Amino acid sequence: MDFSFTEEQLMLQDVARRIAQEVIAPSAEHFDRNGEFPLDNIRLLGENGLMGIEVPAEYGGAGMDPVAYALAMIEIAAGDAAHSTIMSVNNSLFCTGILKNGNEEQKQLYVRAVAEGREIGAFALTEPQSGSDASNMRCRAVRQDDGSYVINGKKSWITSGPVARYIILFAVTNPEQGSRGITAFMIDTSREGFHRGKTEPKLGIRASATCEIEFADYVARPEEVVGVEGQGFKIAMSVLDAGRIGIASQAIGIARAAYEKTIEYVRERKAFGSPIGTFQMTQAKIADMKCKLDAALLLTLRAAWLKGQGKPFSAEAAIAKLTASEAAMWITHQAVQIHGGMGYSKEMPLERYFRDAKITEIYEGTSEIQRLVIARSETGLR
Ligand code: CAA
Ligand code: FAD
Repeated sequence: MDFSFTEEQLMLQDVARRIAQEVIAPSAEHFDRNGEFPLDNIRLLGENGLMGIEVPAEYGGAGMDPVAYALAMIEIAAGDAAHSTIMSVNNSLFCTGILKNGNEEQKQLYVRAVAEGREIGAFALTEPQSGSDASNMRCRAVRQDDGSYVINGKKSWITSGPVARYIILFAVTNPEQGSRGITAFMIDTSREGFHRGKTEPKLGIRASATCEIEFADYVARPEEVVGVEGQGFKIAMSVLDAGRIGIASQAIGIARAAYEKTIEYVRERKAFGSPIGTFQMTQAKIADMKCKLDAALLLTLRAAWLKGQGKPFSAEAAIAKLTASEAAMWITHQAVQIHGGMGYSKEMPLERYFRDAKITEIYEGTSEIQRLVIARSETGLR
């Protein structure tokens, strides 16, 4: 077993760390407070290859592997979780989705602009009545005689919905076929029939803009079908497998930032005449934080490595996301506790880490859904 990283992986990690610490972290409090979309920072990430890490250079990306992607995501999330949410949708849901399932023209037209950070991409699966049970969607695409599709319906909670130029949409083309009657489409949000709802007010990742979107007689051309008609649900599921490695990495980044601040604090802060880090109850918390962080990291790198080797990684990605997101929630909770009153104050970032961590247990499949995926894979039962 080789636990070392390649020179390229370390180089990308270094680029991501520098941008995260020099540009993103210092502005994170501002974007969190105002709920403003950090467009300039997102463009900067794009210019540095971080919006299309696994996208080959011929389509405008960095041409790197999933391990490099995980390392870079961790760094950006340690700077600010909301930035890493936008980055993860562009990279693993949008670009991967098109690269894996789209045709050559779609790759040239849509992947390049998003991988270079010139445009923002989004992924629209969830609806008001269907979240975990994603195949219960109602958004309808009706095929016309000329081969085009007329789309009507709503999608909710769409990350980057308020700003995205392009969206991969999943809609029902054949209601009789259940999950086999769902098709993926490329949506251009500048066209008629596309509408955005109000930006959702959220607990955390407040700089990542989320909204409902609505289609009212939106016409998709035949060449805007992604993959094959009826294969949309499988496309969504396989794209989410990759996405879950990104969210696991995001959770690790948030947790690491909280952990590092905690290590500094327990050395400096004194109570009863001693640094609080000398108390055994604090030491136990530090040890447990470190174990959870390392376990999450190793499981995430395993899933990323398997993906890079072209091996199955669906259950491993769910294991990584479940472990990392629950670790992030636990670690940020303990970090607030160890900082006492200062942990609760907006003058320190601990309360933001705590709020941001929660989303990693919800999106791209809740913790319950990850457990379902893992248990189904282990038992073969449904
Ligand atoms: N890869 C490829 N195909 C897959 C697959 C995978 N990982 N998982 C399932 N499929 C296929 C199955 O083989 C099956 O195909 P057949 O019809 O040929 O047999 C088909 O999909 C249906 O599978 P299931 O019957 O297992 O589907 P299900 O309805 O029981 O649902 C589920 C399974 C795992 C619960 C799934 O619905 C799920 O993942 N739900 C969570 C939804 C989710 O993660 N949403 C995230 C939205 S995006 C987001 O959140 C972005 C963001 O925050 C930033
Ligand atoms: P529900 O499915 O209604 O679940 C409610 C509760 O029931 C949960 O605790 C769930 O775990 C539990 N539950 C459901 N089914 C089961 C079961 N079988 N067994 C045990 N427990 C179960 N979606 C997109 O398509 N694109 C995006 O870009 C996107 N971005 C998002 C950004 C944010 C900030 C948020 C909050 C959500 C986003 N989502 C997005 C939607 C997200 O993926 C869903 O919220 C998530 O999948 C859960 O669906 P739900 O909210 O409908 O909850």
